[in-house]
Amino acid sequence: MPAIVLIGAQWGDEGKGKATDLLGSRVDAVVKFNGGNNAGHTIVIEGEKYALHLLPSGILTPGCAPIIGNGVVIDLGVLFEEIDGLNARGVDTSELVVSANAHVIPSYNRTLDKVTERFLGNSKIGTTGRGIGPTYADKMSRIGIRVQDLFDEDVLRAKVSGALNLKNQVLVKIYNRKAVEVESVVAELSAYAERLRPMVTDTSLLLDEMLSAGKTVVLEAGQATLLDVDHGTYPFVTSSNATAGGACTGSGIPPTRITRVVAVVKAYTTRVGQGPFPTELLDEAGDRLREAGAEFGTTTGRPRRCGWFDAPVARYATRVNGVTDFVLTKLDVLTGLAEVPVCVAYDVDGVRHDELPMTQAEFARATPIYETLPGWSEDISGARTLDDLPRNARDYVLALEKMIKAPISVIGVGPGRDETIAVRDLI
Ligand code: IMP
Repeated sequence: MPAIVLIGAQWGDEGKGKATDLLGSRVDAVVKFNGGNNAGHTIVIEGEKYALHLLPSGILTPGCAPIIGNGVVIDLGVLFEEIDGLNARGVDTSELVVSANAHVIPSYNRTLDKVTERFLGNSKIGTTGRGIGPTYADKMSRIGIRVQDLFDEDVLRAKVSGALNLKNQVLVKIYNRKAVEVESVVAELSAYAERLRPMVTDTSLLLDEMLSAGKTVVLEAGQATLLDVDHGTYPFVTSSNATAGGACTGSGIPPTRITRVVAVVKAYTTRVGQGPFPTELLDEAGDRLREAGAEFGTTTGRPRRCGWFDAPVARYATRVNGVTDFVLTKLDVLTGLAEVPVCVAYDVDGVRHDELPMTQAEFARATPIYETLPGWSEDISGARTLDDLPRNARDYVLALEKMIKAPISVIGVGPGRDETIAVRDLI
């Protein structure tokens, strides 16, 4: 009963699609367990490009059940837009299952996300503006609207009314916006109820049955370790648990069911939005990584901040997620560099830190201590085994593996599906 957790080891956009692709047709279900349409993955299948923000990537694999777990926040408009877009291209989405306990994103939370960011000015988080944070805040404040509430209009009206009692105070008195009418929100959400109903189930029970029947389930995180609300660079994080623990709370699968934790890590580092990033390159070396790696956001189109590989960050991901395997992506982007610096520790106020410092204030002041590894100029996109790599590229991978304290089982050497070195099987 393999239950494999798939997470990002840095600040997101590590290329989880590559790992999902490799697991491919051997997987019976892919569960999205956190986040919402703040994520974005582009998957290329037989030359066709699919950009998904909300739906689990399993939606594109025939025979694989895509499941939206209870830990997800759902923008219903986006859900049906993505379903309709896929159906128009001949993709069957009839296997999609949605948890009755997942929360929905009402339009007032998109408004609040944007006005709050504007209000924060220079202290803004740099959110995707999709209403993610306010919806998770409502969940914790116990004024959230869940999928199951849509199926009883009286319950829905009572919940929306309760939420707006508070939200309208904030919208009107702090942000100087118009109050939102209860009935307009009830109508907005009810409009999706009938179409949604056949997809909704007790996903925790379904997953338990699948695992007991020996099926293979992948639990795929949105965002990544350093964006986790507990273990990331708070407050510059997303509002959910993107680490392996979140796979349990966000799906209803217990920790004792998890058999493997696969972390995806890029051969360098990127970040979107605000927040500390010790190895960030603000010069032409950063521009080079951005161009060579096509580092522009799938969801917002924002240019990503780029920097060298940060070993303490990846090692931290190994620790908090219990990583059993790494998938190292985009090694080819480093081809052509004479030397490749790797951050091995930090200097904080003259003191060396081999691990992430305890406080965010210290992390914000951390400057990287680099070890410089020799680069390579040979094209590596045709490599299919470790031995096919030029010596310096192989040594780079082996040096990283030693620093991050978990095996690198897969290496991405190009954007194509087959441009991969599989050192070890992931199932
Ligand atoms: P939110 O998730 O929209 O609240 O944004 C919070 C922070 O997480 C911002 O810095 C976003 O740029 C970042 N973020 C959210 N989703 C992703 C993602 O899928 N990849 C990378 N960064 C993300």
